[in-house]
Amino acid sequence: MESFKRLAVQAAKKAGLLLKKRISRKRTVDYKGVVNLVTEMDFLSEKIIVNKIRQHYPNHSFLVEENTIKEEDSPFRWIIDPLDGTTNYAHTFPIFCVSIALAKQGEVILGVVYDPMRDELFVAEKGKGSCLNGRKISVSSTPKLSQSLLATGFPYDLRESRANNFDHFRTFALRVHAVRRTGSAALDLCYVAAGRFDGFWEMKLGTWDLAAGSLMVREAGGKTTDFLGTPLGLDGRRVLASNGRIHREMITILKMGKSD
Ligand code: IPD
Ligand code: CA
Ligand code: CA
Repeated sequence: MESFKRLAVQAAKKAGLLLKKRISRKRTVDYKGVVNLVTEMDFLSEKIIVNKIRQHYPNHSFLVEENTIKEEDSPFRWIIDPLDGTTNYAHTFPIFCVSIALAKQGEVILGVVYDPMRDELFVAEKGKGSCLNGRKISVSSTPKLSQSLLATGFPYDLRESRANNFDHFRTFALRVHAVRRTGSAALDLCYVAAGRFDGFWEMKLGTWDLAAGSLMVREAGGKTTDFLGTPLGLDGRRVLASNGRIHREMITILKMGKSD
């Protein structure tokens, strides 16, 4: 495990620091959808991470957002979001990260998330807790939804689909201290793990958005489920993560909303 961890940290830092260095450079932005952006830096970051890991583990499988490599048949699967927060990055808004998870036989055993702008390295190991820059972190102790700071995100198809999270957002916003939208789901989950947010929900996430961050939350003492309270799997697209204490209240609201 130590060598997996060292490698994931090295790869996340190498890619993250390059993202930071180049954030102000002029860049080409392509569109995967009307508001779903991708830059050449997403691809470059992915290549850096994959190449680094493959040098050591050429037979491992990779699930990567930008599809620069095909999946293989291996019990070990690296799940990578090379740049989580692309829209922020493309606008030079400094909230983004690199997210790397390692799953063994379908279960995530390692999560590494690096935010190069704040030099914050989040690491979670199955059964060993979560750390921020080497220090153990834990979820908040906020007991009630009404005293909570929450985070969420909106799907890229929000203009075309009625399942766009606006109704849930409105319902929560009227009941909590505030709801934030950072633009990086992996960081939102790490912030729940660190007690900065009390809860987070989002629909239509990808496996690479949630793999590392959801382990981070669980290993920090929090809870991760779908909107109905079923434990979150790797393919879960509707994510509810919290400090555990406000989980039931959040499920009640999510059941009330109309987002499908
Ligand atoms: C996105 C971010 C955003 C979330 C979107 C994700 P990307 O990832 O995590 O916060 O709301 O659903 O797709 O496209 O920047 O890697
Ligand atoms: Ca992402
Ligand atoms: Ca991404």
